Amino acid sequence: MSGAVDFCGLALEHPVINASGTFDAIAAQRVFGDALLADFPFSAFVSKTITLEPRAGNPPPRIYEVAGGMINSIGLPNRGLAGYLEHDLPSLAALPVPLIVNVMGSVADEVVQLVEAVDARAEIAAIELNVSCPNVKTGLDIGADPDELARLLAAVRPRTRKPLIVKLTPNTADVARVAVAAEASGADAVSLINTLRAFAAHSTRPGAPWLGGGTGGQSGPAVRHVALAQIAAVARRVTIPIVGMGGIQNGRHAREALDAGACIVAVGTESFRDPLAGQRIARELAAPRV
Ligand code: FUM
Repeated sequence: MSGAVDFCGLALEHPVINASGTFDAIAAQRVFGDALLADFPFSAFVSKTITLEPRAGNPPPRIYEVAGGMINSIGLPNRGLAGYLEHDLPSLAALPVPLIVNVMGSVADEVVQLVEAVDARAEIAAIELNVSCPNVKTGLDIGADPDELARLLAAVRPRTRKPLIVKLTPNTADVARVAVAAEASGADAVSLINTLRAFAAHSTRPGAPWLGGGTGGQSGPAVRHVALAQIAAVARRVTIPIVGMGGIQNGRHAREALDAGACIVAVGTESFRDPLAGQRIARELAAPRV
């Protein structure tokens, strides 16, 4: 397949990776066996967000289906740093593509500890900072405010020489301003969009939320044109590479994100419908434009 791309010094076979938390490579390997590794759907694998301590995540229900996508309120359940390094990293390091680890902390010191620990592992190619999860309060605040983000990166950037990708929130008035702050503070790349903050009303309790976490984040095709607008706005203001995501379902959608200014794209919600969507989209993208 053509379409090899250099992303922050990582040689990727094609420009399609996964959005963090939308593809469980370990579970997929159980289902698809070694065939998954022989034709892995993505050119790099991005892990689900890890935090310093284990998190149980939000109470159920955690998913609400909407026209053109879904709202999730997962709440970053994970084994914590030590559990990830012991139990998940050995399997993920065996994947045939570079591994990008996504981390989130509620204060800068937590993020520093996570980044230092991840930096020490040669199996990990790059780090994505999640400053944009709408389902935990602190993440959103850092990612929406350029000055807060600059302060965070001032603490984190010196702790690693691995490529550092900052995942931006769409839930801010001026995403490009936040991207500019990320670039000025040493980010090697930005990724966007994370989910749009959303509310699903309970069917029988007026005013009450359906989701156990209260609000959630909307993703899927319904947000794709919001994503395109934000990718284009960011591309006009920064020179670092952009990972474009938000509602991509096929090669044409991926092409539009690249045309808007992304260097590579990430597939998220579509992988829930079709776990092998990444490889299909990469093939569609490699086909001549019609
Ligand atoms: O709630 C979640 O686990 C989602 C995370 C995110 O959108 O970053």
